[in-house]
Amino acid sequence: MHFVTRRNLLATTAGLAAAALTPRILVAQAPAPAAAGPFKRDPLPYPANALEPHIDSKTMEIHPERHHAAYVANLNTIAKDHPEIAQKPIPEVLAKLGELPDAIRTPVRNNLGGHANHTMFWQIMGPGGGKPSDDMAAAIDRDLGGLEKLQTDFSAAGLRVFGSGWVFVTVDGAGKLALETRPNQDTPMMDGKRVLLGNDVWEHAYYLSYQNRRADYLKAWWNVVNWGRVGERYAAAKAGTLGV
Ligand SMILES: [Fe+2]
Repeated sequence: MHFVTRRNLLATTAGLAAAALTPRILVAQAPAPAAAGPFKRDPLPYPANALEPHIDSKTMEIHPERHHAAYVANLNTIAKDHPEIAQKPIPEVLAKLGELPDAIRTPVRNNLGGHANHTMFWQIMGPGGGKPSDDMAAAIDRDLGGLEKLQTDFSAAGLRVFGSGWVFVTVDGAGKLALETRPNQDTPMMDGKRVLLGNDVWEHAYYLSYQNRRADYLKAWWNVVNWGRVGERYAAAKAGTLGV
């Protein structure tokens, strides 16, 4: 015989309430839907676990499939009424935000900046990152004091970003490099510059493994920089063909 005690009833009721809530919670946490439109997010060029142990696989699922995907979905929503934001190259739109209508300037700044930054970010990482090519190494020596100093200065700059933002190495058409940071999803492309490489210092990029230890993340991140891909971007910058 099964007796329903008050305690059982409460437990059952609580369980039902939790079950009723579960689908809503799952929906809220599900990947952002792939909104139809002109903006697309490329799949990662490596498996989500490829950057272990430096960047954990869960982060490499959530970060592209929810955070980056949300920027893309937002852009496609904006593009329904403002298709012009998809009709020019991304760096050109970002360099001319002032020409956009007031109502969409800040959303485009945040979401197109986020789309551009993350598109670059996935590209320039990979397992077994290698080392800079000879011409890249020469440029790093000339403009940034050598690889070791670049890594030290880059990490220090990333640590100084208050709140959320990015740390970048920019490159001009002559191959000159510079270290820069930006808040939020801003990018040097907003100033007409090009990005050679950059690291995301939003907490969503590292919190699961590193919690508040951004300095540890910044140091470990150098292990997953794909110098072969960075070298291709360097060559493209000097040829005037580097996009995001
Ligand atoms: Fe991010």
